[in-house]
Amino acid sequence: MSMWKESLKIGVALIDSEHKELCDRIDNLFAACSKGKGKDEILQTVIFLEEYTHKHFSDEEKLQRSSGYPKVAEHKAMHEYFTQKIADLKKDIQENGASVAVVSKTNYFLMDWLLNHIQKVDTELAQYIH
Ligand SMILES: [Fe+2]
Repeated sequence: MSMWKESLKIGVALIDSEHKELCDRIDNLFAACSKGKGKDEILQTVIFLEEYTHKHFSDEEKLQRSSGYPKVAEHKAMHEYFTQKIADLKKDIQENGASVAVVSKTNYFLMDWLLNHIQKVDTELAQYIH
């Protein structure tokens, strides 16, 4: 299964390549789960996402500022929501370990949030820029 598809492209090369990387990492977690290795992979995935989204969100926010996008604060609030979720997940996994339920809940949350965010919020940004 691959989350990334051409139709997710918003037409900004840097952002598209970062979105593809995020999708690929979530695919990896799904693949690990299907081999019964989800519990081993989940913490690494969450740590990767924490670092990578920090860079990715700041790239998006830079683009918004430089283009005069009017919904910077709204968009930033969504990034902050995701960042907080990832921080909570990491803490939970480090303290309590990853149950199968936590792994699958995380998988679906990541996929759902990212796809929605790209298709609605980032697409709206791209439409403004172009
Ligand atoms: Fe975004």
